[in-house]
Amino acid sequence: MKIVSIVGARPQFIKSVPVSRELVKNQITEVLVHTGQHFGQNMSDIFFNQMNISAPSYNLNINSLSHGAMTGQMLTEIEKVLSLEKPDLVIVFGDTNSTIAGALAAAKMNIKIVHIEAGLRSFNMRMPEEINRILTDRISSYLFCPTDTAVKNLHNEGFQQFNCSILNTGDVMYDSVLIFSGYEKKPPFSINEDFILCTLHRQENTDDPEKLKSLFDALHILAERIKIILPLHPRTRKKINQLGIFNKSSSNIQLRDPVGYLEMLYLLKRCSIVMTDSGGLQKEAYFFKKPCLTLREETEWLELVENGFNFVCGSDPEIIMSNYDKARKTSFNFNIELYGSGQASRLIVSELLK
Ligand code: UD1
Ligand code: UDP
Repeated sequence: MKIVSIVGARPQFIKSVPVSRELVKNQITEVLVHTGQHFGQNMSDIFFNQMNISAPSYNLNINSLSHGAMTGQMLTEIEKVLSLEKPDLVIVFGDTNSTIAGALAAAKMNIKIVHIEAGLRSFNMRMPEEINRILTDRISSYLFCPTDTAVKNLHNEGFQQFNCSILNTGDVMYDSVLIFSGYEKKPPFSINEDFILCTLHRQENTDDPEKLKSLFDALHILAERIKIILPLHPRTRKKINQLGIFNKSSSNIQLRDPVGYLEMLYLLKRCSIVMTDSGGLQKEAYFFKKPCLTLREETEWLELVENGFNFVCGSDPEIIMSNYDKARKTSFNFNIELYGSGQASRLIVSELLK
């Protein structure tokens, strides 16, 4: 069996590792295609180096374009790769533009698609990720879901009528945490006893000046009480520089460049609380038994909210502060298995071999 796997963005490098390892174990040939969506040392290379991912067979180098242009150019180039490689299956991960481009290229060539992290929904059609997920799910043959909620979402949309197999395998990101959590690495900056680990990069926050300003107001208020470490996605750095909304005298906020996965695991292990608009980080907070304040209006990870681990805050400083106080006062019992048992990639590959 020959598989082409498509990756392009930071979370996809991380999700691909346990799956690639499982493919190797089962002697399945995998051809890795990097679309180039994320690029450079701290958004791409560091992940390949730290996690020992073999160099991609193809790097399409497509990035920094509008959604349509990016997805369109990826579609053209991935089609060329698939014509050359003639794989039996194409694997795509998550919900980025690289995901939908890979899936669409495969679907047009009648190659079966494997969607890892299928079935997630925010029910917010203004998010580019929501469009990417729904369309990718609809044209995939194997829908590997991380949660029961994701399976239910697909059932509610009538996916039983379609010719596809749907399986809750648990979350491949948990597999990755289990592989790498003994290898954390201290980042090249000072770390305090008690700090919030924060990340911010979602389009709905970065591209709305009012929201971004409001979020930074909240960070400045919070920073009077606790240190904040904020490894910043390049798009957020660009925006805050343009808008001049970061108060440089706020010494309790450490704005840093993006860090590698091993440094992120180090910070997750030591922080008191996570604050983020990232999808992946919300789950990682839970894997490391930390509460999470989600800087969005909704989340796809409902089970974290239902179990009281995740506080959906939006961007209003008052709501963020009151949830921060609530999270600090609560004692959490994280001993419940929400994302499988770290066997997601094994289950995925054994299903593909059936
Ligand atoms: C993408 C995904 C998002 C995911 C995120 C993971 C889509 C629609 N969005 O968002 O779902 O949460 O990746 O991090 O696919 N940039 C750089 N260097 C990089 C990457 C991006 O400078 O390595 C800058 C570029 O100016 C680019 C902007 O960030 O135009 C946005 O990048 P893009 O790839 O469009 O989306 P992300 O915000 O990274
Ligand atoms: N991540 C990282 N360095 C950073 C920020 C994030 O290694 O500076 C990791 C994070 O731990 C998680 C993944 O990248 O595993 C999530 O990616 P991101 O937040 O960019 O995307 P999303 O999950 O929102 O799609």
